[in-house]
Amino acid sequence: MWDRLLIDCRVATMEAAPGNPLGIIDNGAVGIQDGRIVRVGPRTELAGNRAREVLPLGGAWVTPGLIDCHTHLIFGGNRADEHAMRRAGSTYSEIAAAGGGIASTVKRTRDASDAELLAASAMRLDSLMKGGVTTVEIKSGYGLDVEGELRLLRCAKALAASEAVRIVPTLLALHALPAEWKDRRIGYVSMVIDELLPRVAEEGLADVVDAYCDEIAFTRDEVERLFRAAHSRGFRLKLHAEQLSNQHGAALASKYNALSADHLEHLDSHGAAAMAEARTVAVLLPGAFYALGDECRPPVQLLRDHGVPIAIATDCNPGTSPMLSPTLAMNMACTLFGLTPEEALAGMTVNAAKALGLNAEVGTIAPGKAADLCVWRLESLAELGYWIGLPGPERRIYAGDDS
Ligand code: NIG
Ligand code: FE
Repeated sequence: MWDRLLIDCRVATMEAAPGNPLGIIDNGAVGIQDGRIVRVGPRTELAGNRAREVLPLGGAWVTPGLIDCHTHLIFGGNRADEHAMRRAGSTYSEIAAAGGGIASTVKRTRDASDAELLAASAMRLDSLMKGGVTTVEIKSGYGLDVEGELRLLRCAKALAASEAVRIVPTLLALHALPAEWKDRRIGYVSMVIDELLPRVAEEGLADVVDAYCDEIAFTRDEVERLFRAAHSRGFRLKLHAEQLSNQHGAALASKYNALSADHLEHLDSHGAAAMAEARTVAVLLPGAFYALGDECRPPVQLLRDHGVPIAIATDCNPGTSPMLSPTLAMNMACTLFGLTPEEALAGMTVNAAKALGLNAEVGTIAPGKAADLCVWRLESLAELGYWIGLPGPERRIYAGDDS
């Protein structure tokens, strides 16, 4: 006897099959037991199975729960002032060079109490969850000293304990050079490698390490020093790469078998080939592109030509992407980057799971995986990339339960 059986629904399993890239099952059924999917298939094949609760869904679509694989959700304050400055003509790089940008959020974050940080972050998280998110990656990167970074990762852990969502914490200490290390770049990187990394490993606060490789952030050599150390300690890697300029960060990330390289507006064919070879996922972030008024689009066709898996994320952060809606990210990926609605959905499910190294656990509807599901009252799945500001699913199921 299963716990739950969803029936009278169309299921997009996202398990690609020949001629059926989204693995669609018309008139499907999904069996759930102990928070996991036990069986999915045509209703007729599951007809003999019984469950304590049978849920007829009236023809709605069922997809995997959405996965937001790139956020900077935990921060103090906001940067609405910089939004206004950009409208008046300043660029993101100019604002950062004048001491604003990430540095201003670091100050607001350091000034916030734990309770304030948790409350503000929980509100943002709640918005993503209402939008259908069942797994979310959360980066540190606004503490930028040992205790400050550990505090943000502990805050992510606290949210994971209190909210019905899977959280993947990521250490992003090479996000910006803090003012107090201004003339000691090498020293800051050494501090991260020698003091912070071991603490994060000891306390088990993150398994993934990210960095920001760009003219206004860290050089390839600095990132490689960190990657070598993190890789040898067993961390998985990610990189903010080729966002504002081509630093050949994607190739560097691929060299260390990174899970993903993210942004990629300035990616070239050499970088795309390296990513394909390493099976590194391309995470595209249309919210940042939109908010910065960027004109250089990520080379989507190049990624397709090389067979690089494409994921989409909100990049929820106070500076470049104050975005609180996963469905808006899918819409913008279609309208701004030219993804098909099918690619956008794969980008927030199966490929986002790969970008987090969690594809054995989530991202598709298959036996053995977590029963994280969204039920959408829509005529077609294409509507997920079509509506501008679609509220969340009718039903959000996390680990088998409605929440
Ligand atoms: O993904 N590019 C660097 N990091 C963030 C921006 C963070 C911020 O501006 O606070 C991003 O766009
Ligand atoms: Fe980011």
